[in-house]
Amino acid sequence: MPSYTVKTFGCQMNVHDSERIDETLREAGYAPATDPDSADLIVINTCSVREKAEQKLRSLVGTLADVKAARPETVIAVAGCLAQQEGHKLLSRMKQIDIVLGPDNIVELPRLVEEVQGGAPPIVRTVFDVDEPVFLRARPDPRHHVAPTAFVTVMKGCDERCSFCIVPHTRGPERYRPSSEVVEEIRTLALAGVREVTLLGQTVNSYRDPEHALAPAPSASSSDPDESEFAALLRRISQAVPDLSRLRYTSPHPRHVTPSLVAAHRDLDVLARHVHLPVQSGSNRVLKRMIRRYTREEYVERAERLRSARPGLTLSTDIIVGFCGETDEDFQETLDLVRAVGFAGLFGFKYSRRPYTPAQKLGDDVPETTKSQRLTALFALAEELQSDKLKALVGSTEHVLVEGESKAGSGKVTGRTARNEIVHIGDPDGASLVGEIVEVEIVGSFKHSLLGAITPRYEATRRSGSPRRASRRVLPLLAADS
Ligand code: SAH
Ligand code: F3S
Repeated sequence: MPSYTVKTFGCQMNVHDSERIDETLREAGYAPATDPDSADLIVINTCSVREKAEQKLRSLVGTLADVKAARPETVIAVAGCLAQQEGHKLLSRMKQIDIVLGPDNIVELPRLVEEVQGGAPPIVRTVFDVDEPVFLRARPDPRHHVAPTAFVTVMKGCDERCSFCIVPHTRGPERYRPSSEVVEEIRTLALAGVREVTLLGQTVNSYRDPEHALAPAPSASSSDPDESEFAALLRRISQAVPDLSRLRYTSPHPRHVTPSLVAAHRDLDVLARHVHLPVQSGSNRVLKRMIRRYTREEYVERAERLRSARPGLTLSTDIIVGFCGETDEDFQETLDLVRAVGFAGLFGFKYSRRPYTPAQKLGDDVPETTKSQRLTALFALAEELQSDKLKALVGSTEHVLVEGESKAGSGKVTGRTARNEIVHIGDPDGASLVGEIVEVEIVGSFKHSLLGAITPRYEATRRSGSPRRASRRVLPLLAADS
């Protein structure tokens, strides 16, 4: 049986695509390699959102030169956004590469490998499936352990033109998945034991059902250009898959945080009490140059609406520092916004000028040292806010979906609260808790996570039978965070 290995860089969309690559290869008769260096097929799933990601690919392919020299029959395939972006150019720059594969061409991989093995020259397949979009569905293999959390794609591509971002170029225009397919996939996953699903999309909340099968959501406005059918989709999932314990989504665009989505957070227990809502900057001047299509004030107002709809809801965000023309005052406005919103977590990036983006015209005029200083200041503030929030949770009771062991041999398992805090739990029989939603008392806080202890109340439920089969509807003890 031929063996393969997949190396993944980048975002959750790439993690998801890598899982589909895994499934496609297994179905074609491949087996995961026990030693990645001796695999017959090496797939590198790339990211091109920042320049650093590209450098990582270069150094990895460099190290693979030895593998290829020792075993020339090894096939090296480069997939993902960088593959889509650079196409043929990658072949001329890195002679070790045999296949360049775009994100919409994953199913073709086994055939392309065969062609290469049959003596064909290196192949490039980077064609968007614009007319008939294909959404590869997860096919949980009952012989393998089913993780308690899963991603489900609801849309791909992006029609926004944020001036810094290469994604519209590498992932193409927005295409949506029929709502019946989304619901069916989630139902299958829940049946297989998945407790939490994260809906994925570049602007996930711009979703529209190509089948027009969704009932309009309460508070949806037909005259608002920012309205979508995302809230209707959330309601449909909640109703059709009552066994699902938690539903998350990433990443929404602030523009589409409309009253219908706010109302969904108010009404649907299954929705996590956490939203990752990328803001990018706190300065209106910068937001305008970034073509984000909202102001700082609009962002704050939408964040507030979400919070008042679901008390205790936390927000995290993405921020770019050192975007073209960003002054010290602009950056201070970003820090000020971070403090005012009180983000529970954030991802910060130094602006990295990308090809094929509108901002190329604007230049990249903030010195590297200034970018580094701003990023350090941003992270210092984010850590301060995060550790204050975590400390304040000590003594509270939380419900944690246990995802796996903390660290091999640590005797602890780890999971997340219905917001998104990471909780480590010491338990002599921790492995049996994976996939369970357990009730813990928070007994300590670290820089980025919490320490929890199983409550006597949960312990009693555990002893009296299997809480795993309980849905969020029938066992109120485990239903929602206190
Ligand atoms: N909508 C997508 C965004 C993809 S890019 C999503 O679902 O997450 C992820 C983040 O990378 C962006 O929110 C932005 O903060 C950052 N980013 C994108 N392009 C960048 C660039 N050229 N330089 C620095 N950071 C960038
Ligand atoms: Fe990128 Fe903006 Fe779309 S950040 S993915 S162009 S919403």
